[in-house]
Amino acid sequence: MPEGFDCSATCPWAVDRDPALGFPVGQVRRFAATNDDDLGDVDETKRNVLKLLAIGGLVGAGAGGLVGGALQYLQPPTVGLSSYPRVQLLDVDGGPLTVAKVEAEYNVGTSALYLFNYPLRNEPNFLLNLYPADGNPPGPSNPGAANVPSGVGTHGSIVAYSAICQHLGCPAPAIAFYPPGTCPQTPGGKSFYLHCSCHGSTYDATNAASNLTGPAVLPLPQVILEADPSGNIYATGMTPSSPPVNGHISTLTGDYGVGATSQVVKETPVILCSFPS
Ligand code: FES
Repeated sequence: MPEGFDCSATCPWAVDRDPALGFPVGQVRRFAATNDDDLGDVDETKRNVLKLLAIGGLVGAGAGGLVGGALQYLQPPTVGLSSYPRVQLLDVDGGPLTVAKVEAEYNVGTSALYLFNYPLRNEPNFLLNLYPADGNPPGPSNPGAANVPSGVGTHGSIVAYSAICQHLGCPAPAIAFYPPGTCPQTPGGKSFYLHCSCHGSTYDATNAASNLTGPAVLPLPQVILEADPSGNIYATGMTPSSPPVNGHISTLTGDYGVGATSQVVKETPVILCSFPS
């Protein structure tokens, strides 16, 4: 205290000070309670609120952990492939699919659908041979096509396109190949095409499955086919101009790969002759 300054009777901290408290103002002391009366009055409301907050915090932390864990399992893991595999195609009988077999058994007039999955298990594709059914070169009076973009085989007429519509994703058999003469009218004057019966989109089977009529605007993705010297057919990728398969962020993402081989399956198409001509 400064010399000459004495406020023992007037300073706020000295007024009514209990001389029994023999410690300076501001010092904290701990007293051992000997009974409940020594604890003095307790605000029960505050105590209960604190208890509730503590319990709530514990419950919240536990629930948060459970919800987080559950979300982890609800969210499907991202699966897929890092690059396009070389996959050998097998025919419906389980034997290797060869150019000779395709050219002998399938042609532009084949109405059944032949489908194989590639590159993922949930990505079906049409296998088509667009060469005329009579084996003669295509022409105005002989519907069919040869040397189509990315076609393989003797006539460049064997192609594969995604069998998932680029509009809202209707898969085969709702989207199907329509052989020549299937319907009285044709989209864009094409005598054969792929048509989705869900909302009417059509695609040009002879030109990389480009879109002919909407509501779809994108082409069907096209599978790159290759034949080895023995004529065995492989799927090796998707053409550079292909958009991702509908419903997939990328064609390589969204399911597991098909493995080393993929077998062709036969399906009956849904045919609906209702589209803009
Ligand atoms: S899903 Fe094919 S036209 Fe709509």
